[in-house]
Amino acid sequence: MPEVGIGKHLLGMEGLSGEQIHGILDLADGFFAISRRTIKKVPSLRGRTVLNAFFESSTRTRMSFELAAKRLSADATNFSASGSAMGKGETLLDTAQTLAAMQLDAIVVRHNMSGAPHYLAQKLEVPIINAGDGQHEHPTQALLDLMTMRRRFGKLEGLEVAIVGDIAHSRVARSNLIALKAVGARARVFAPTTLLPLGLAQAYGCEVCTSVEQAIEGVHVAMTLRLQQERMVEGLLPSLREYAKEFSLSPERLVKTRPEAIVMHPGPVNRGVELSPEVVDGPRSVILDQVENGVAVRMAVLYLLLGGEPE
Ligand code: CP
Repeated sequence: MPEVGIGKHLLGMEGLSGEQIHGILDLADGFFAISRRTIKKVPSLRGRTVLNAFFESSTRTRMSFELAAKRLSADATNFSASGSAMGKGETLLDTAQTLAAMQLDAIVVRHNMSGAPHYLAQKLEVPIINAGDGQHEHPTQALLDLMTMRRRFGKLEGLEVAIVGDIAHSRVARSNLIALKAVGARARVFAPTTLLPLGLAQAYGCEVCTSVEQAIEGVHVAMTLRLQQERMVEGLLPSLREYAKEFSLSPERLVKTRPEAIVMHPGPVNRGVELSPEVVDGPRSVILDQVENGVAVRMAVLYLLLGGEPE
């Protein structure tokens, strides 16, 4: 299996080349098969210890990093801020230094502050993996999204991808826009003007659309984003009903896409808001494929950062 270097940490898609991204996905394709076996374990990272330090809620990312580490035979352990000494006032850095002193081989960090994993990477010797930092980046989500597209279409270059929804608060959108540009795919975005950052087209080389129909016309991939109401100040949206009317993907709207187009969502989905329930559960939805691919991508990232042994 050809190997690709990705450096000491994985803090974002920024700085990864198309070649590096394809290299990670090649490795992940191999790990995908392991998760489909009866015995879902290889000895690649035997004796290594991976800590999941999640300072913000998660189902998919936390569970898949834990399963990824275990399927590579590493010991996986979880830290959650609630119930920890942070409740007694211990800082993020003191907490992370305390955990790292227990001789960890990697720390997977999710935090609601943009830049928290980068700060820890500067202060600690241990490899840091960004599992989502505020509104900034979510690199393993972009990798699993690209893996899902590549497995479906056999390529990434030249794919037309629409990203619809709450772009402003979305680390998923940012990581995907960087990654799609690196691999030569073409991205279009559509969002309420209050949830659309200025300068997006210049920064990421994407097309900014003025209707959902324009955004999804002829695309291979229609990706919708969760409305992140927990990060919004009041008044950014008129109402969920009006948002759904203009932005939600329904079976009627999806006729605009290519016949073979897929629908993606990073989850969790607000059913009836970003996607109609028929689309979530329909034949074009690859939302559960994204979840499955997430384990394989995280196995590949852990393997590369921890210098795993070939099987
Ligand atoms: N997509 C994603 O990051 O989901 P979780 O918040 O459940 O990890």
